[in-house]
Amino acid sequence: MSDINTARLLAAREALKYVMNNYVIGVGTGSTAMLFLRELHRAIIDGMIKNALLVPTSTETEIEIINLGLSSIMRYPWQVDHIDIAVDGADEVDAERNLIKGGGGALTREKIIDYWAGKFIVIVDETKLVNRVPSRHPIPIEVLPFAWSIVKKTLETRFGGKAVLRVCEGGKRGPVITDNGNYILDYTPHSPIDPAEMERRIKEVPGVVEVGIFSGEHVSKVIIGKLDGSVITL
Ligand code: A5P
Repeated sequence: MSDINTARLLAAREALKYVMNNYVIGVGTGSTAMLFLRELHRAIIDGMIKNALLVPTSTETEIEIINLGLSSIMRYPWQVDHIDIAVDGADEVDAERNLIKGGGGALTREKIIDYWAGKFIVIVDETKLVNRVPSRHPIPIEVLPFAWSIVKKTLETRFGGKAVLRVCEGGKRGPVITDNGNYILDYTPHSPIDPAEMERRIKEVPGVVEVGIFSGEHVSKVIIGKLDGSVITL
């Protein structure tokens, strides 16, 4: 029997099998993506993976890449003309590979990189599996600061449910500010949603920058590390 961190590590190691020499790699955000980054770092140092370029999906990931001594192979999106593979975590996953992301507030850069990548691989431990999304987490929505209260009212009027402005829990008072200088609304719908339709409809609201529903059609694979030490793939 292993713990959650070991289960995440198993998923991260499995994802590494999809990384080839000369790949431009989108590196996700969060604790599971960081396990992948450390495994990738080791593979690069050992010479198992050659000529990799890394594109971070958040400031946190950028700092970690630099701290690992990999700044010479880090690139911003404008410095590459494609991304071969993106490997990222998720807050919730259902059997159709629909995801909720953005618990760490990085949803916009994640979606830009993950959706652009030739392959988008999600790594999670089995506790992230749910029958339908969203189940245990609200849907994070990045909004322009100017528009937050209008987006909140529009969502609640148009779709029902409740949207709450995410505030800092320490280190700063007031709203959480994203890497892009925006706010986040955490939206809980009042009834089950169609993820692809809701992703599209929320994006239509003026002031919305991005929504943390990543519908399954954009996800190539979900690799799930299980607590019994096995790994399954959706
Ligand atoms: C970051 O904004 C999120 O989308 C993360 O990918 C997600 O929260 C997963 O993080 P953990 O791997 O730490 O659970």
